[in-house]
Amino acid sequence: MDKIKVGIIGFGRMGEMYLDQMMGSGRWDVIYICDTFPAARKAASEKYPGVKVVGDEDVIFNDPEIQAVGLFALADSRKSQIEKAMASGKHILAEKPIAVTSEDEEALAALAETSGVMSAVNLYLRNSWYHRLMKDFIASGEIGELAIIRICHMTPGLAPGEGHEYEGPAFHDCGMHYVDIARWYAESEYSTWHAQGVRMWDWKDPWWLQVHGTFSSGVVFDITQGFVYGQMSRDQTHNSYIDIIGTKGIVRMTHDFKTAVVEMRGVTRTETVERPFGGKNIDVLCNLFADSVESGVRDMRMPEFRDAAIASRFAWRFLDDAMGNALPSIGDNATLEAIRERRRNMKDGYGLLPRR
Ligand SMILES: NC(=O)c1ccc[n+]([C@@H]2O[C@H](COP(=O)([O-])OP(=O)(O)OC[C@H]3O[C@@H](n4cnc5c(N)ncnc54)[C@H](O)[C@@H]3O)[C@@H](O)[C@H]2O)c1
Repeated sequence: MDKIKVGIIGFGRMGEMYLDQMMGSGRWDVIYICDTFPAARKAASEKYPGVKVVGDEDVIFNDPEIQAVGLFALADSRKSQIEKAMASGKHILAEKPIAVTSEDEEALAALAETSGVMSAVNLYLRNSWYHRLMKDFIASGEIGELAIIRICHMTPGLAPGEGHEYEGPAFHDCGMHYVDIARWYAESEYSTWHAQGVRMWDWKDPWWLQVHGTFSSGVVFDITQGFVYGQMSRDQTHNSYIDIIGTKGIVRMTHDFKTAVVEMRGVTRTETVERPFGGKNIDVLCNLFADSVESGVRDMRMPEFRDAAIASRFAWRFLDDAMGNALPSIGDNATLEAIRERRRNMKDGYGLLPRR
């Protein structure tokens, strides 16, 4: 089987993860890396000397040899890149969100359904072993009827103003993953909600948000997400879990970013499974995508643009709801400055972007 000829756009934190995976897998022939930032191009040329490094994305879209593109820059450039890829018949592996506004995301989702090119988006939780295992356990009937989905993800991660501004506040940038995975479990659409946020450190947007509500099936949910979890604590930690409750049993998961632990308490089975966390599961997505491109048949486990558009729309809606519900401001800008300064000097921290 010939390797798939691919051009990568965006050599930041995510771009580098994809490149390392693709180069190591033997399934991809990475022909181009494109980044608009000279220091990123320099870093890419040094790390991957055999790859053409360019600053103009059109070189990739105009090259008929290129079969697929990886769109790993920021949200503001994704829409036009997706449109160019579709116009030039190139398959698309995209980061989330697929555009800046919900209107554009929905338009792209509709285009993807008729374009004839293969497309997938990195809603990475869907590709994790632990969510797949838990979903199978629920489907087996062990917890009875699915009733309650509770998700929490709080880390001392990306601080306001540090990057990703087109991706929105923490609850959109990161929270849309949890909005998506709750919907994936519920297999139903969001129906009602109430959200509470807090503006930490006098930042304009909430950086912590909790929303609860219902799906149209009646399943209830609560999602808590924030990059506010002890940013200045001497030894940082995080709190991340999912807790799923049925009419008869429960299944839950927690992780420390190294190991994930799934605990299943069903009517006939009690089981604890502990395995390596798996990071962003880029290997799983890249392999599903390569299988789909090679066979010409889309692997339905790959998250679709439509899924990303829906998760993004509801993350924005929950943020909008929080805006109207008191939205207290706690803390000051001096603390935020200290957090940014600390993160600038950290070598090993939560969600650090490359410093080039
Ligand atoms: N799925 C996930 O779990 C996950 C996690 C983190 C980030 N992301 C998404 O991935 C994307 C990239 O995030 P990141 O953390 O790598 O950010 P980053 O800031 O580290 O990297 C972005 C890179 O894109 C480059 N760039 C910006 N505009 C460009 C353009 N028009 N053309 C070419 N290059 C351009 C920048 O110079 C930078 O090198 C974001 O949209 C983010 O939402 C997804």
